[in-house]
Amino acid sequence: MRLLLPQLNIAGMKARLPIIQGGMAVRVSTARLAAAVASEGGLGVIAGTGLSVQALQEEIRKARRLTAGHIGVNILFAASQFAQLVKAAMKEKVDFIVSGAGFSRDIFAWSREMKVPVLSMASSARVAQLAEKLGAAAVIVEGKEAGGHLGTQRSLLSILQEVVAAVKIPVIAAGGIMNGRQLARALDAGAQGVQMATRFVLSEECEAHPNFKQLVLDSKPEDSVIIDSPVGMPGRALRNRLTEKLAAGETIPVPKCNHCLKNCTHSFCILDALQKAVDGDIENGLVFSGEHFYQAKKIQPVRKILTELNREYEEATAAKT
Ligand SMILES: Cc1cc2nc3c(=O)[nH]c(=O)nc-3n(C[C@H](O)[C@H](O)[C@H](O)COP(=O)(O)O)c2cc1C
Repeated sequence: MRLLLPQLNIAGMKARLPIIQGGMAVRVSTARLAAAVASEGGLGVIAGTGLSVQALQEEIRKARRLTAGHIGVNILFAASQFAQLVKAAMKEKVDFIVSGAGFSRDIFAWSREMKVPVLSMASSARVAQLAEKLGAAAVIVEGKEAGGHLGTQRSLLSILQEVVAAVKIPVIAAGGIMNGRQLARALDAGAQGVQMATRFVLSEECEAHPNFKQLVLDSKPEDSVIIDSPVGMPGRALRNRLTEKLAAGETIPVPKCNHCLKNCTHSFCILDALQKAVDGDIENGLVFSGEHFYQAKKIQPVRKILTELNREYEEATAAKT
């Protein structure tokens, strides 16, 4: 691929592409997807939330067998296994950790001790500055267009410039970036790179059930809905039987609580709902998805997705000159 896209120099890594594949729990972004993105020059991310320590170790080792590229692990602070999973990933010598959905101060001490950099998710300049002060190698600014848990109602571009002005560490833009034009806009606004998740759901390497991908392909723009997650944050998902029940105020019986969250509202079991979706039950499962999901029209190999992004970026940049 002839590259016009700039390199991403971050946390001691030099990635050929300024693209981080966003972590997607539970088991939507596994070793296979992360390795495919890393092999093409981006940063691949395994979602650790919802996995056992052993399952996470296995995913990391599998990714290492599949690629010599950069592999990180994403773990939500809200998970009760947060500390165990982060430490296990650091022991496996992953290249970086991404942490969001709440803020951990401890992670920076572990990061210094184990020499594994931390990229913090942030949805405001205040949180980004705190992350920088505590030792984050970079911040990932996520706008309301993102899939999954949301820390803001503001659009990505409205927060991005504030954060870029507030910190010296690299800033990565996330939420609603589906093509090279949007990528160019984020870099123009001062981001060093982007984090993309939903576009990679529609990859051949993503191990979510084909029904999950088909729902993304079949849904209409107005099917992007916000639910109240038991984590205590809003979350962006695709409309289905489960989200309609939640919108109607129904409580979904929790089969057997395994205390996966530090704090849970128990309105439904998020682990069970995410697991159902990735296994193909897209009516009763929770299908997290970014707001611009409908802009991706087909399932493609990761290599093709990245080639297209590069071409679109080139066209967007050429149109400006
Ligand atoms: C299916 C799915 C699961 C997600 N799970 C996580 C997660 O476990 N941890 C996290 O920090 N972000 C999670 N996210 C957010 C993404 O990592 C990413 O920042 C965001 O979706 C970017 O927006 P985009 O999907 O429009 O590209 C998830 C997103 C999706 C679509």
